[in-house]
Amino acid sequence: MPIRPVLKMGEPLLLATAALVTQFDTPELHALIVDLFDTMIATNGVGIAAPQIGVGLQVVVFGFEQNERYPDADAVPQTILLNPVITALDEEMESGWEGCLSVPGLRGVVPRHTQIRYQGFDQFGNEIDRTVSGFHARVVQHECDHLFGVLYPRRITDMTQFGYTDVLFPQLKAGQDE
Ligand code: NI
Repeated sequence: MPIRPVLKMGEPLLLATAALVTQFDTPELHALIVDLFDTMIATNGVGIAAPQIGVGLQVVVFGFEQNERYPDADAVPQTILLNPVITALDEEMESGWEGCLSVPGLRGVVPRHTQIRYQGFDQFGNEIDRTVSGFHARVVQHECDHLFGVLYPRRITDMTQFGYTDVLFPQLKAGQDE
């Protein structure tokens, strides 16, 4: 059953801190990653975190070439990231629209660090260490928040910029955020 149901806001697991992965390159881990990608692609997501499919481990996947839900976003390389650590490189913040597969049908403007360094591991235990900016940095911050029980509505600072996708962005096809 590779496409898994996505937990929605209100589920306690989405508010929990996920456990560190301690064993790399296991059949269970590889199966989890397949499920994450299959679920992300089936729902048109740009990223997904393991807790969103009910697994309390520090695993996120993200990346896309072109995405219907974020048609103006620059491509982000397909990435599997475990046990991530994010470091903001300066004080600069940038506001941008976000949605979430666990908060279907809604969008909000969220301030995020413009430039970050992120470190972690891939599924084989190889180190990942990247410095990124823009939408790539936004996606990483959003997905890694899921590992610490934070959904994007908690990051919104101006609640007048939070609403239904079909009202805010009628040009996006109906149902894309579901
Ligand atoms: Ni999300």
